[in-house]
Amino acid sequence: MCGIIGISSNKSVSSSILNSLKKLEYRGYDSAGLATLSDGVINEVKSEGRVDSLEKNFDLKNLKGNIGIGHVRWATHGIPNSVNAHPHSSHNVSVVHNGIIENSTTLKKSLISKGHNFKSQTDTEVIVHLITENLRSSELELAITKTLKQLQGSFALGIVFKDIPDLIVGARRGSPLAVGYGPNENYLGSDSYALKSMTNKVTYLDDGEFCIVKKDQVLFFNEQGKKINKKILELSSNEANYDKGDFKHFMAKEIEEQPTTIKTGIKEYVDNLNKDISIFNFPWNIDEINSITLIGCGTAYHSCLMAKYWLEELTSLEVSIDIASEFRYRRNKFKKDTLYIFVSQSGETADTYAALDLCNKNKMKTCAVVNVIESSIARDSNFVLPIHCGPEIGVASTKAFLGQILVLYILILKISSLRKEIDKDQYHEKIKDLKALPSLIEKTLLHDNDIQAISSTFNDAKGSMFLGRGFSYPIALEGALKLKELSYIHAEGYPAGEMKHGPLALIEEGMPVVVLAPRDKYYKKTISNMQEVIARGAKVLLITNKSDNEVVSENIWETIEVENTNDDLLPFLLTIPLQKLAYYSALKKGYDIDKPRNLAKSVTVE
Ligand code: AGP
Repeated sequence: MCGIIGISSNKSVSSSILNSLKKLEYRGYDSAGLATLSDGVINEVKSEGRVDSLEKNFDLKNLKGNIGIGHVRWATHGIPNSVNAHPHSSHNVSVVHNGIIENSTTLKKSLISKGHNFKSQTDTEVIVHLITENLRSSELELAITKTLKQLQGSFALGIVFKDIPDLIVGARRGSPLAVGYGPNENYLGSDSYALKSMTNKVTYLDDGEFCIVKKDQVLFFNEQGKKINKKILELSSNEANYDKGDFKHFMAKEIEEQPTTIKTGIKEYVDNLNKDISIFNFPWNIDEINSITLIGCGTAYHSCLMAKYWLEELTSLEVSIDIASEFRYRRNKFKKDTLYIFVSQSGETADTYAALDLCNKNKMKTCAVVNVIESSIARDSNFVLPIHCGPEIGVASTKAFLGQILVLYILILKISSLRKEIDKDQYHEKIKDLKALPSLIEKTLLHDNDIQAISSTFNDAKGSMFLGRGFSYPIALEGALKLKELSYIHAEGYPAGEMKHGPLALIEEGMPVVVLAPRDKYYKKTISNMQEVIARGAKVLLITNKSDNEVVSENIWETIEVENTNDDLLPFLLTIPLQKLAYYSALKKGYDIDKPRNLAKSVTVE
């Protein structure tokens, strides 16, 4: 939710911190700031808005200091402005924080009674004064240990000290934090992405741990303040280029990358020679698994729902799904023969991580479907299925969604085959169809001008509906989410058969309604539901697949025909026009497509 960087070096750090903050902006972009130490002074600069405004408002090039911390913010406590921006500093301590301090009000009252003055409305500022208070009576390591014990809630911290100008303290509980190792300098960062441009050697802190980062030494400590050793990991070298290339936005690039990312995903898991799926090192015997629970948030939750439909169609396993923020507080009945699958692009989503932690504590079988293999969710699951999409920078998830449902579909095909619930011929047929998917996506991406023309109708409407049945229903939800988060228009995904139970009242003359009606077993039913909304004045955008038979209805405003494939794979193709619809709608509105308002790419607070 926020991005943290810290650098301890033998040379000036301000421009390296600034560059890292630009890379971190996908994690939050309400405000930004940095603090360096030089000549016994904390030089704190911060401003509302993007990192660019920091550069415009301050002469950062001449900001002295070989030690510094930086932060990009997604507001939790306190409106986005320069006072609430991080870092927060006292006369001798400066702090950047990602997370939520749940007992900040109580601590603030006690610190005020001890004479501390607060400038901001944030929970973070409490940490500054607590450390300042504890340093009065304890040495650094003890003061840090005491402070962390007094904090309730989640945090990833970067802390510098006016009177100890050669080190940065980092601490982690519930929000990710990594250390990076460079030449004559070392780093602290929210995630590997923040550090990748400076190093490929990292160490991840675990919950309760803190570290002391100097330019030539890094020390790690456990919750009790005892020194510990930690592994140094080598980051995956797939240094996909992070720039937009010829594209106007990362999202546009990531939509067009999908044939490639799907091809890569298939290559990773499909053994061409033996026409088989290889899920290497799957740690369980298939007979040990009698039910599957899938958990995720937002788009990742839609992937879980898509997997549920495939599992019900291709296996006789019991399947349940849950939104992570609901699952983590439910009175769950954990069963040994259930496989829990956690779907997360970033692998850092706090709610999903908390759900995983709950399953780990109950010694459940856990599997992560993630895009970032160095992430917390990946590291703490028994088994990881990477989606191999390369960094997804656009906050609105596109290629990662297709990557998630691809890996889930591949896993489900394998499970179905191992349980002998599809025969060899069907299995091979489905693998053959799967291998044709990238070229079908390529063709479907060609629907561009037609969608661009349609998008303004959605912009002028006060709301829209996205309808689908069966395999198309998760895609209807995903399409509605894309439109909401990019063009800030109210859009609702709904099961087509459910409209008559209330939402039909929403339909009025000219309201745009997207109907996903591929020629699968639900086709006729969905077309009748489509009639119901047309009869009440809706302007229907019908998305179906190519076929010789005419669509069974007139009065359709627009039709988009995606390529033909087996029913299992139609959801991949139906998704593409919806991604583009949301993109062009936001483009026409002139909104920030890669960083929509109020959002962040990785929601690491609950
Ligand atoms: C999707 O477009 C959104 N960016 C959001 O719903 C996202 O999918 C959700 O926050 C989960 O993120 P994760 O996949 O990184 O866990």
